[in-house]
Amino acid sequence: MATRKKIGLIGAGNIGGELARLFANKELGDVFLFDIPAKESFAKGKALDLEQNGAVLGYDCNIRGTSNWADLEGADVLVITAGVPRKPGQSRDDLVAINLPIIRDVANNAKKYCPDAFAIVISNPLDAMVFEYAKVTGCPKGKVAGMAGVLDSARFQAFLAREAGTSVKDVRAMVLGGHGDDMVPVLSMTTINGVPAQTLIAKDKLSAIVERTRKGGGEIVGLMGTSAYYAPASAAVSMAEAFLLDQKRLLPCAAHLDGQYGFKDMFIGVPAIIGGNGVEKIVEVPLTEEEKGMLDKSAKSVQAVVDVCKKS
Ligand code: APR
Repeated sequence: MATRKKIGLIGAGNIGGELARLFANKELGDVFLFDIPAKESFAKGKALDLEQNGAVLGYDCNIRGTSNWADLEGADVLVITAGVPRKPGQSRDDLVAINLPIIRDVANNAKKYCPDAFAIVISNPLDAMVFEYAKVTGCPKGKVAGMAGVLDSARFQAFLAREAGTSVKDVRAMVLGGHGDDMVPVLSMTTINGVPAQTLIAKDKLSAIVERTRKGGGEIVGLMGTSAYYAPASAAVSMAEAFLLDQKRLLPCAAHLDGQYGFKDMFIGVPAIIGGNGVEKIVEVPLTEEEKGMLDKSAKSVQAVVDVCKKS
């Protein structure tokens, strides 16, 4: 008899809680909210609250809090938010010293208990944390991806919709590159339902939107004192759903490159097709010379953080 899919959420904090709520609402599987032993009762409390929420909203799934990796055995999907978020004034790269040992701990346990899971990493600095997870687990490269592009693109799309005065549903845009201040919003492919964005939005306004997108995470950290969690969780769930339902969605995510876009053995944000086998294909899109230059610059920033990790 078919059983439900098993979803492991590593980190039961702000993003972890929102992830659990979304996975449950969509009835994508049974959810395990994992955190460190000191936070186990918090994770259990959150899980109980969310399971009871199902009685009101009418979803069927089990939600459990735990600090025992054995409970995650055989998970189909892992979404990893373990680590610390940014505080005002910090860059994502500032988190590397704290989050690197955490991602190594998570990866070692994932390798032991959930070797077949499709892993979606959210912990920052994103691209380096995905690289480290893949290195420690030794998992097939298509079985791990970083969530950044869907979120950065969502921020870009929201700003474009506001400026153009259109529905956000009609905005098509992608942000590629590393999840940092030199990410690459690809203007040459940005349209409002096929109409080039430049037709509806003046050049100076577009440039301001690109800049605001690049600093979009920091803007929220400045306002809330911690990092965003609603849109990051939704973005990761769209990737997990593409895997669980074999949707073959084309989504920007930090995927392993083996020569594509001129980069080798690196995880960085590119358009990829996600289906039942994980990241099934990297899609190479034509970029303008300027965009290629920006992607190179962003890749250098990612590599610098990866190099720091390699030395630690
Ligand atoms: N294993 C599991 N969970 C861990 C571990 C670990 N080794 N170390 C820390 N955690 C947990 C923390 O106890 C905390 O509950 O990770 C959780 C992180 O939750 P929050 O502090 O609320 O952070 P959140 O906003 O969810 O962001 C998590 O995602 O976007 C990134 O920059 C952000 O790296 C940060 C991560």
